[in-house]
Amino acid sequence: MPVNICQQLNNAKDLDKASYVSALLAHMTLKEKIGQMSQFNNEDENLRSLIKNGAVGSVLNEVDVETINEFQRLASEESRLGIPLLIGRDVIHGFNTIFPIPLGQAASWSAELVEDCARIAAVESANNGVNWTFAPMIDISRDPRWGRIAESLGEDPLLCSTLGIAMVKGFQGDNLADSSSIAACAKHFAGYGASESGRDYNTTNIPENELRNVYLPPFKALADFGVATFMASFSDLNGVPVTGNSWLLNDILRNEWQFPGALVSDWESIPQLVTHGFAVDEGSAAFEACRAGVDMEMASDTYAKYLPALIEDSQLELKQIDTKVTRLLNLKFDLGLFQTPFTQSTPLTEPLNRAHLAVAKKAASQSCVLLKNKQKTLPLLPEKIASLAVIGPLANDGYEQLGTWVFDAKVDSSITCLEAIKDYVGDTVEIKFAQGLATSRSNNQEDFNQAIEIALTADVAVMILGEEAILSGEAHCRSTIDLPGCQEQLINAIYQTGTPIVLVIMAGRPITLEKILPKVAALLFAWHPGTMGGPAITDLLFGSACPSGKLPVTFPRTVGQIPLYYGQKNTGRPASDDTFVDIDAIQVRAPQTSLGMTSTHLDTHFTPLFPFGFGLSYTQFDYKDIHVSIPAVIIGEIFQISATLTNSGNLAAEEIVQLYIRDLVGSVTRPVKELKGFQRLYLSAGESKTVIFNVHSDELAFYNRKMQLETEPGFFHAWIGGDSTTELKTSFELMAK
Ligand code: NOJ
Repeated sequence: MPVNICQQLNNAKDLDKASYVSALLAHMTLKEKIGQMSQFNNEDENLRSLIKNGAVGSVLNEVDVETINEFQRLASEESRLGIPLLIGRDVIHGFNTIFPIPLGQAASWSAELVEDCARIAAVESANNGVNWTFAPMIDISRDPRWGRIAESLGEDPLLCSTLGIAMVKGFQGDNLADSSSIAACAKHFAGYGASESGRDYNTTNIPENELRNVYLPPFKALADFGVATFMASFSDLNGVPVTGNSWLLNDILRNEWQFPGALVSDWESIPQLVTHGFAVDEGSAAFEACRAGVDMEMASDTYAKYLPALIEDSQLELKQIDTKVTRLLNLKFDLGLFQTPFTQSTPLTEPLNRAHLAVAKKAASQSCVLLKNKQKTLPLLPEKIASLAVIGPLANDGYEQLGTWVFDAKVDSSITCLEAIKDYVGDTVEIKFAQGLATSRSNNQEDFNQAIEIALTADVAVMILGEEAILSGEAHCRSTIDLPGCQEQLINAIYQTGTPIVLVIMAGRPITLEKILPKVAALLFAWHPGTMGGPAITDLLFGSACPSGKLPVTFPRTVGQIPLYYGQKNTGRPASDDTFVDIDAIQVRAPQTSLGMTSTHLDTHFTPLFPFGFGLSYTQFDYKDIHVSIPAVIIGEIFQISATLTNSGNLAAEEIVQLYIRDLVGSVTRPVKELKGFQRLYLSAGESKTVIFNVHSDELAFYNRKMQLETEPGFFHAWIGGDSTTELKTSFELMAK
């Protein structure tokens, strides 16, 4: 068999990336170039012959390593050029071992942990032949109705950027060419989280200033860090669908940010430009996407069908195609695919690696957020409890606790709460179980009696409720975010028994809990915690671990408050306790001005139920002595903001310390608070620590009215504390050089 061009280049020693790729490009026909720009789903009937013909640059969703190696052989040995394939898969929060959903991981506020989870996901998926994941999703998410909030890292640009970088580090490792590294993908560029009313795929209208100050920073941070690829969002941004949005994809991503990596469309989002009413037919859709900057088309084939004629007619230039193909070949080079297209899979000796399970347990534990703990109900002390009623549709369901995007999970390896609790207490506590409801969505109350019966004779009822996996994730949006089905009625029924309730919620989004809260003695929010959810939750319930997670997203009281986030603007008439009038306090025919005339709803309080950054512990953390090292900072300087943190309880534990800043006056209005730093710290009982945040004045910069990033002199407030409502405050001035 003749030696193909890639084999020849591989034999030519010491070729650097640029020389290798340009030499290869010089041998490619237009059709082969367009092939590199095409990604096909593994179910495509003609896939094998398309690969042999050089018409495929990437395959997605194949995870059988033998099949992948067969595809790679067809590509690297039987196609004319011998270019290996990118193998894409949504490895979102684990592969075989499932970690908490990304929103749960974000509640750990631990970059180290998030990196570890992504590393393991990379190791497991790379072992199966995957070399590209479509993660992390770094869309700022401020609407919990949107199902994809589960996949997000929450509402805050700094938290999202920091944890997004950690994920990229984990996936890509130190070197993309290592056999355990996979390319990451920053998605969905950009603004997808602002989909109208939280309905997936919907319109987003985001003024440029808001886009630059809130939605783009995580993407910029990941581009600067070296994420290998980007994905364009499905959504319409200010009237121009992102797939065809040259301003976003060319002007910002390429020209302003100089991002060198490849950009992939979302699933069939190029032909969907026709559905959007942006392109008249698929040919013009291909034209718009190519012109705007989409390097690779996912799942559809408009590039293959229409780009040749568009080039021939000179509507598109060959130069544009070459740039795109170069980016894609660069990625293949970086991944080491030209040298090593095949995967030498290490067979698993156990269903799941124990070290991976240990990280999954740690992640689930650090993700759980304790929202209520009346009179130290938790931790439960087995010596003081004779019997426990475990109730709920999510108490013993190994699949539902995994959450969205778990195609490759080893579901049988999941350990449920019921299993783990039984294992933990052994014979010391009697455990009775009743599901109460067939599913989290069920409205059938016929099994309530069994649950009531076991609660009546138990010392404590541990209820494990929430949302089953299918209720969040892509296309799984909700118009209300209460507990679905008749779970609330189940809580009421158990409440009537008088047995104290410890409620554990597993869900893919914030849930509105205001009505339930008074009925439960303790509330632990576990998100979808993954494979090791059961053991992690059990350790927290019984005090073998201490809750340390903090909310990465605001929990509203009612769905009507959405969007509700801590970094809101002050408005000209901010709500306050002094002016707030509750609907029940309004007198009949009261004068309008008696209603306070501020920015509130009459029928709910203006605060959230639980603020961003909130989470309780079994110990008590106190903050005092906030201090700024330089009260008048000159632009360009680094300064410190510090405070003293004391663990005044009698238990060693971790606390997530948060620094917030407010720029009091700006040329555009600034949020009432912005997270500017956070640290997860361990303190033994009684220990005090000085927590120091180094702040560079550049971190106070924002995009002004001219859309320039600038640090404006003026006065600032700064707070340090355990959540976004902390009142421990100081101030400083920022002065021009
Ligand atoms: C559509 C989703 O929006 C995207 O996030 C995902 O990566 C692709 N499908 C591929 O499955």
